Parts: sequence; C-alpha cells; structure tokens
Amino acid sequence: MDVLQKIILVLHLLGMAAIVGGWLAARKGRTMSEVVVWGARAQIVTGLILVGLAEATKDEGSALNYTKIGIKLLVAVIVVAFAEIGRARAKRNESSSTALDAAGIGGVLNVLVAALW
Ligand code: HEM
Repeated sequence: MDVLQKIILVLHLLGMAAIVGGWLAARKGRTMSEVVVWGARAQIVTGLILVGLAEATKDEGSALNYTKIGIKLLVAVIVVAFAEIGRARAKRNESSSTALDAAGIGGVLNVLVAALW
C-alpha cells in the first residue's frame, strides 16, 4: 500500500469516526450534526478513491470484492441521504432525530460490513 493509499484510508477512517462519533455526541440534543453530514459525504468520496487505487495497484489475476463494495456504497448512499434530509429538516427547525439515528446506525452497519466480511 503506497503513501497516497494510506492517507486516503486514514481520511476514510476519520470519516467513519465523524459519522459514528458525531451521531453519539448529537443524540442527546436530538438534532442532526454537521459533523455527521460531512463524515457521510467524505465516506463516498474517500471510499470510491480507495476502490480506484486498490483496482490500480492489485496483483495480476486477483480481483476486488465488488459485492462487498456495492453493498458498502449502497449503505453509504442511504447514510448520506438521511444525513442531508436531517440537515435540511434541522434548518427548518423540524425534528431530525430519526434521520440522525438512521445515519448513525447505517454508519455502524458499514463498519460491520467493512470489518466482518
Ligand atoms: C458509511 C460509510 C462507510 C463506512 C463507515 C466505512 C468504513 C470502513 C472501515 C472501518 C474500513 C477499514 C476496515 C477495512 O479495511 O476493511 C473501510 C475500508 C474500506 N472501505 Fe469503507 N466505509 C464506508 C463507505 C465506503 C464506500 C462508499 C466505499 C466504496 C464504494 C468504501 C470502500 C472501502 C475500501 C476499498 C476499503 C479498504 C481499504 C484498504 O484496506 O485498502 N467504503 N471502510
């Protein structure tokens, strides 16, 4: 793994921390946190870059697990959708706690997919 790949992986892990940590920190206030929104956006960008770099640097004949990647992408799109919906609702002073919980739980789900699959 080259330096660029490591840097993007660190950003990917910080994005994950922003979603899960931001969710847990914001739960008491029951309002969507900007930290969660930016973490959710970052995961899609850094995740896709990681896939591109892994594809470019993999050994001849080996293959990436695109089923796993596809599921992670699907979950991440759902997470960012809930984060953006919650952000918009919070701006209008409407309840965003369900969207906040959904984004946080989705983030945890993607950690499980990443680590256990
Ligand atoms: C909520 C969104 C996401 C979370 C919480 C998350 C979480 C994680 C975590 C904890 C890891 C490190 C563990 C491991 O190496 O398996 C990881 C790695 C990785 N993730 Fe994600 N991820 C998310 C979204 C995505 C997306 C959307 C993609 C791509 C479409 C992606 C692609 C990858 C790849 C390729 C790695 C492996 C990096 C490597 O070891 O080379 N992730 N992810």
